[in-house]
Amino acid sequence: MAAAFLGLNILHDTSAAIVVDGELVCAIEEERFNRDRHTAAFPSSAIEYCLQQAGIRREDVLGVGLTFDYEQFKNNANPFDQNVIDRDDLSADGIELTKKLNTDTWREARLQLEQHGLENARYFRHHLTHAACGYYLSGFSEANVLVMDGRGEHESTSLWHARGTQIDHLESYPVTDSLGHLYTYVTSLCGLYGKSGRNGNAGHLGSIGNEGKTMGLSGYGSDRISFKDVVSYDDGRYHIHLDKLRDLDVYKASLGKPDANSRDLAHGVQQTLEEVYRFLATRLESLTGCRQFVLAGGVALNCNANGALAASPIVDGISVPPAANDAGAAIGAAFLQWVEHSGKAPAVPADQIYLGSAFDATAVAEAVTASGVSRVAKLDDPAAVAAAAIADGHIVGWYQGNMEFGPRALGNRSILADPRNRDMPDKINMRVKFRESWRPFAPSVLAEENAEWFEPAIESPYMLLALSVREDRRDTVPAITHVDGSARVQTVTEEANPLYYRLIDSFSKLTGVPMVLNTSLNIRGEPIARTPEDAVRCFTESGLDVLFIADMVMWKEGVSLNLNATGTGSRP
Ligand SMILES: [Fe+2]
Repeated sequence: MAAAFLGLNILHDTSAAIVVDGELVCAIEEERFNRDRHTAAFPSSAIEYCLQQAGIRREDVLGVGLTFDYEQFKNNANPFDQNVIDRDDLSADGIELTKKLNTDTWREARLQLEQHGLENARYFRHHLTHAACGYYLSGFSEANVLVMDGRGEHESTSLWHARGTQIDHLESYPVTDSLGHLYTYVTSLCGLYGKSGRNGNAGHLGSIGNEGKTMGLSGYGSDRISFKDVVSYDDGRYHIHLDKLRDLDVYKASLGKPDANSRDLAHGVQQTLEEVYRFLATRLESLTGCRQFVLAGGVALNCNANGALAASPIVDGISVPPAANDAGAAIGAAFLQWVEHSGKAPAVPADQIYLGSAFDATAVAEAVTASGVSRVAKLDDPAAVAAAAIADGHIVGWYQGNMEFGPRALGNRSILADPRNRDMPDKINMRVKFRESWRPFAPSVLAEENAEWFEPAIESPYMLLALSVREDRRDTVPAITHVDGSARVQTVTEEANPLYYRLIDSFSKLTGVPMVLNTSLNIRGEPIARTPEDAVRCFTESGLDVLFIADMVMWKEGVSLNLNATGTGSRP
């Protein structure tokens, strides 16, 4: 019988992953089912979907692993484990409160597991599940692993050395030195909390999910506001000084209204993070002598810091898993059980992105019919027709194949547009995404053309590295060039996604530009579209001009399409 292991994340961004005989078969977030971004709901639908995809009955699963060791929380009242930035309270009352909250967290987890018949689930150390996800997906046979997030049970940053199947712990930092909380706190000072956070307006932790906005804003700032004393270094360790951070409260912006101070705060925290990245990478290299790096944990979604580290001379290779956040830790919890069971490393999946829901032709036809839209056609070559529509200036929805796992849409549930059009970001924001005007849009570029447009030309298949747009190219692709000259690149190979590759290649043949602007297919505030109905609703309820859905296309009144475009010819 097949050896099947489930990994579950039941914190926020809840998710499930299944590994069968060492192969990662499926991973999916619960938010894609219940349509609640960053949901904390128990991942019941995600579990069912994983089992169905793997063809495994629930009773035949050999083990279930969680991404958090809840036992470690029971009755714990260590002051260094408090979310100090959130509460700033080391008094006896504060410590008592922590103890109560931690015990409640443990109780809640037990209750949920019992309700779902999973009381025998194993608890794994949170950072180990992040490390296992990142390392086993990297394909490296040896690596330094750097885990950085808001917090695990007792740690917020941890350093590991992995070789073969073994992942060894080296050093950790307490929750009071959390880089994730530092960044989230500054996000709240910038007035950027409460919109996409799971807790609404509840304190700075309500900013979870908004850190990317701060990263975008940082490109506009200067180093006028000093973060010099917020972080110090000694004896091979960094330290965050809460009192110095609190001094920055004077720059706090009103909710939803970032101002000139916010730009400089964002710049300051981004520079600080990049400095700590360099420090930790140097530390790891000195401890292990290894120059290959794996980054994981929610902080590792910071593609500017990742890109800066990737370009550093001490780094020979870098890998960041597509779901570096807690959702991806579920993969780690499944992998760890497989390694323990078999003594073997899991297979490195060729496809680490498109691990989610597919759909069938009937579901697509039903969704299209139910929409009542009359401008509909079936296509022989959707990629070529889409490329022509993008070159004509249309905003295009692109729904194909299996859904992406992780926070980025990478060419199967995407909105695509022309990167040459300077006005395109505003147009997309006004008509579809309603995002803040300072947030950059990202390019998907043909992998072999990367060096012609970006530097350093490092492969970035999951849009997790910010590279620099070559200076002589910036005027050609203004819609994807951020104010600081960077771009959050996705390099696309034919092997990884043949259809998406064909679309970009067709666009390149038409325009001489081997990339398209790519953002996720969703309506404001919602997660990425999962089903054909989600995609069609996105089309009808927003300002998308065209939706390509499998081999069908639907378009709005007044939009003209070349339905016979073929995508043949050669790139200029
Ligand atoms: Fe985490």
